[in-house]
Amino acid sequence: MKSVAILGLLILVLFGVGCQSTQDPAQAVNALPVGDAERGSLLFQQSIGGAPTCASCHTLNDQRLTGPGLAGYGERAATTVSGQSAEVYTYQAIVRPAAHVVAGYSNIMYTEYSRKLNQQQIADLIAFLLEQ
Ligand code: HEC
Repeated sequence: MKSVAILGLLILVLFGVGCQSTQDPAQAVNALPVGDAERGSLLFQQSIGGAPTCASCHTLNDQRLTGPGLAGYGERAATTVSGQSAEVYTYQAIVRPAAHVVAGYSNIMYTEYSRKLNQQQIADLIAFLLEQ
């Protein structure tokens, strides 16, 4: 009985990993609609579908809360992960925060935004963040 449960778990894990690797973030970003920074600014302070607000963990200055302050973010996002554009890095930071954990922080960002936000909302947030 126990081994069946373990086998089931293994299949789930393998399936999960397989699904993730099929989604290339650069392709996902190309497929996004055009973002609107003003809407992104509102979304940043809003709870969507019961998710915590971005602003509960991030300031727009350099003050550190649970997450890093986002002053100067647009500039540093382009060079944080080599080979990744600012858009792709930001997309990953929102939908898959564990893909790159900012130095000096723990991997504790809310992980369900990929389910809670639609493509337009993700695009709007990216547009807003890259203006910081
Ligand atoms: C529960 C707290 C929490 C919430 C809520 C949260 N974040 Fe984060 N965020 C973090 C932490 C901690 C990090 C640093 C660790 C990491 O890289 O995952 C981070 C990292 C980031 C980064 C990378 C910053 C950098 O300097 O490279 C971006 C961009 C970001 N978050 C955007 C968002 C957006 C947009 C939202 C809302 C949709 C959000 N976060 C909600 C905690 C949070």
